[in-house]
Amino acid sequence: NPSTHISQLPAEILLRLFHFLSPAELLRCSQVCRSWSELAQTGSLWRHLFPVHWARGDYYSGPPGDLDQEPDEEWVSSRQKEGRAYQEWDEDADVDESDESLSSRGCLAITTAQREKRLLNGLIQNLLPAVGPSVRSVVLAYSSTVSSKMVRQILSFCPNISHLDLTQTAVTDSAFDSWSSSPPPLKHLDLSGCEQITDGSLRRLSRKKRQNFLFKQKVWLLDSSELADIEDAAEWSRRGGASLPGLGFVEAQTLSGAAELRTKCSSSSSLGGPLGPGGGQRTETRRSLKFLSLSGCYQVTDLGLRAVSQRGGLPSLEHLNLSGCPLITEVGLQELVSVCPALNDEHFYYCDNIDGPHGDTASGCQNLQCGFRVCCRSGE
Ligand code: FES
Repeated sequence: NPSTHISQLPAEILLRLFHFLSPAELLRCSQVCRSWSELAQTGSLWRHLFPVHWARGDYYSGPPGDLDQEPDEEWVSSRQKEGRAYQEWDEDADVDESDESLSSRGCLAITTAQREKRLLNGLIQNLLPAVGPSVRSVVLAYSSTVSSKMVRQILSFCPNISHLDLTQTAVTDSAFDSWSSSPPPLKHLDLSGCEQITDGSLRRLSRKKRQNFLFKQKVWLLDSSELADIEDAAEWSRRGGASLPGLGFVEAQTLSGAAELRTKCSSSSSLGGPLGPGGGQRTETRRSLKFLSLSGCYQVTDLGLRAVSQRGGLPSLEHLNLSGCPLITEVGLQELVSVCPALNDEHFYYCDNIDGPHGDTASGCQNLQCGFRVCCRSGE
């Protein structure tokens, strides 16, 4: 019917249209009316979060693979200047909040950082409580305002997160406190340039899942990560909101076509652990991790590596970057490598001064030319 008003479209069609919108446009749509607000908080719209980019007007929201390369030096140095200006201003804010103070310290840098902080707080307080279980990636690289507490909150709302990038942020080990009870199924953890990270993070990372929190629950087991429609339907019925017309059909169609879907209701405890609300099977971080970068985390020592080695290692780890960790030795590296059977030497980096494992094939230190990450040979 050519005269159909947009408000008469079935929610499922509107949801499909919403998938074409940027995060900023979605937030604007959420202010139109209550039903649009609820629809805009559907999990499949918020799988990949890039708050640092969004605060600067770049609304990319696809998978993070496309952004994996290091950003150019200019971008890095302007984020660093921004961070410094904001920290100085923040420390003095109680004393002097005048406009003059803002302009004398680099107004643009500070307002950009403030925008980022507001956006992060908004995500944590308003969006993640609704969509957290659907979130798969959170990229906070080069954030000037993210704190360990914020990371803790994000992790508590996002039990199915598989990609976490905290490159060059001021987070500490306490960001990962929650891992002692519920380690997320992370595949990619980037802590490059997080100079406050110590062995404590490696201890948390390698914790084994507590066995006593297994519980009997009837659930659908979904192996495919792309079954967004089913997730959305489950989410909507959980919320008790209006049903999504048409989703029954979509669900039935997907069910019959999904080869990997286990089609019977099962007890989760008999099948390897509790499932996240999004339907993905939960696993220990240390088992799922494929990418780990501690480049420039210069406080990390053999004790941290040993904690990982003695708790079973990282069986899926392919990429390990320990450049700029001059306190580790060949002993700690040997122990770790012996329990990381999937490690690919091309993606294995450590200090050139260490006579370590896979010496002929491993890549050397990646920080020699970096300029802003720790390296024992910088300036040579
Ligand atoms: Fe030793 Fe870079 S940390 S060569």
